[in-house]
Amino acid sequence: MVESLIDINQLTVEEIDELIKKAEDIIANPEKYAHKCEGKKLATLFYEPSTRTRLSFEAAMYELGGNVLGFQSAKNSSASKGESVSDTVRVVSGYADIIAMRHPKEGAPLVAAMKSLVPIINAGDGGHNHPTQTLADMLTIYRKKGGFENLTIGMCGDLKFGRTVHSLTNAMSRYEGNKFVFISPDELKIPDYIKTDVLDRKGVEYEETRSLEESIPDLDILYMTRVQQERFFNEADYLRLRDTYILNEQKLKNAKKDMIIMHPLPRVNEISVEVDDDPRACYFDQTLNGKYIRMALILKLLGIN
Ligand code: CP
Repeated sequence: MVESLIDINQLTVEEIDELIKKAEDIIANPEKYAHKCEGKKLATLFYEPSTRTRLSFEAAMYELGGNVLGFQSAKNSSASKGESVSDTVRVVSGYADIIAMRHPKEGAPLVAAMKSLVPIINAGDGGHNHPTQTLADMLTIYRKKGGFENLTIGMCGDLKFGRTVHSLTNAMSRYEGNKFVFISPDELKIPDYIKTDVLDRKGVEYEETRSLEESIPDLDILYMTRVQQERFFNEADYLRLRDTYILNEQKLKNAKKDMIIMHPLPRVNEISVEVDDDPRACYFDQTLNGKYIRMALILKLLGIN
């Protein structure tokens, strides 16, 4: 099997550090990288909607001098005629050098990686994982906080289906001295497997609470998430839970002056637009950092320095 990125745990701490350093070098010296992927093609196979992930992957490949092909939805591909992910990937790996795939089914990119002749990057699989969002988040944390240790990290909102939360918890739990505060309604709590297999196994400190107001003064990072309508089976439950947390300037009065506010986006109501002007808000930085870290990842998986 060729090297792919399906789960953030496939990367060692040293490999994450290398990707961060590479992204920093790309930011500082973009011209050095402008032709690195000449003659190479990235395929973006998106079976689920996306703005940031797909377009930042495509911008990343163009800025490396490469080209892009792909589809934006299952209905515009032969998946709509019943073609399997395995067959699609087998075909596309004859047309492209690397593939970024988003799929609503958990595990679909792993199945693809087992059949593909070229590297597969998981661009989000259902409510499971989103490793490249985690790399974008980590580049942002590195640039704002200077490192990954001794941080109290609040995760707020839909922690059950929030794949970005699952991947980031996995990654940040590997660094010394971090503590997690999981803030959610009972129906959207962090899955048990994250608590037992990730946090308890590593002896990482965490607490669960419903109250954003009570926990906000302790946090170094507040990672807000959207309640995801597309993951609910029941419209009434979605409507009841969607506005549980709305971050506004009033709530931020009790937060640390250097706490950073993150969100993978898209947001709906969970962060008021008035917060966008707060110097602690860095969710739009995350979107730009996503492009640079994906450039670094494409280079790594293609074996280009
Ligand atoms: N953060 C993120 O995955 O956004 P998109 O769904 O727009 O790609």
